[in-house]
Amino acid sequence: MLFDSHAHLNDRTYAENREALFAAIEASDLSYVCDVGFDLESSLLAVEHAQKLPWCYAVVGCHPHDSKEMDESMMTMFKGLAKKPKVVAIGEMGLDYHYDHSPRDIQQHWFRRQLQLALELKMPIVIHDRDAHDDVLRILKEEGVLAAGKEPAARVLLHCFSGSPELAAQYVKLGAWISMAGPITFKNARKAPEVIAAVPDDRLLAETDSPFLTPEPFRGKRNSPVNVEYTVRKIAEIKGITYESAAALTLNNAKAFYGIK
Ligand code: NI
Repeated sequence: MLFDSHAHLNDRTYAENREALFAAIEASDLSYVCDVGFDLESSLLAVEHAQKLPWCYAVVGCHPHDSKEMDESMMTMFKGLAKKPKVVAIGEMGLDYHYDHSPRDIQQHWFRRQLQLALELKMPIVIHDRDAHDDVLRILKEEGVLAAGKEPAARVLLHCFSGSPELAAQYVKLGAWISMAGPITFKNARKAPEVIAAVPDDRLLAETDSPFLTPEPFRGKRNSPVNVEYTVRKIAEIKGITYESAAALTLNNAKAFYGIK
């Protein structure tokens, strides 16, 4: 019984064989998958998937890569989508200074606007942070989402966490949640045990970020939510608990974060 807390079933690489992907998910140990939007079109598709598939929930928003395409009319459409049934968070939003597909000031503007929308709608927030650790944390504080010594204004999830154990500890202290993806299974993932040790049992989620970040032993092939098993197995190994316990823990945390009953 597994929860893939972050996948892109809506990604065009699945367009040709999406029904086969759904069938594989239904035949697996997965109980839930969150289909995460990265622009307007993919968010619409995520909502459609959530409406037709009992195990699927949607997250709607704009990825920093796509923020150069954003405007206020799209924000209004995201707001409308966010109110649909089974839409459980806003995202994935944030900053990506690794690829810089959109100018940094534009990324920051739409990150702030989406944080404001999530606060207005009282919805959880899914964050993408690649090589932008300082600015992501600064903006979360400046927008009043996270503050030292206070309860967070919204639930915040750092998806595919790639920071240091110290940064993970800092986020946990501020009340945020941390999700680990396939790279923790890679042989050179030296930080992973320390990051996982820094996150309390009730704050840790697992994801695939499909179709990206395929875990070992399938690294190099296209990813699928079914492979969340390998990330959960690695979490179990690092924490010294059974696979079943790690599966239950990450599933329950994802349900709690997304507010799924
Ligand atoms: Ni993603």
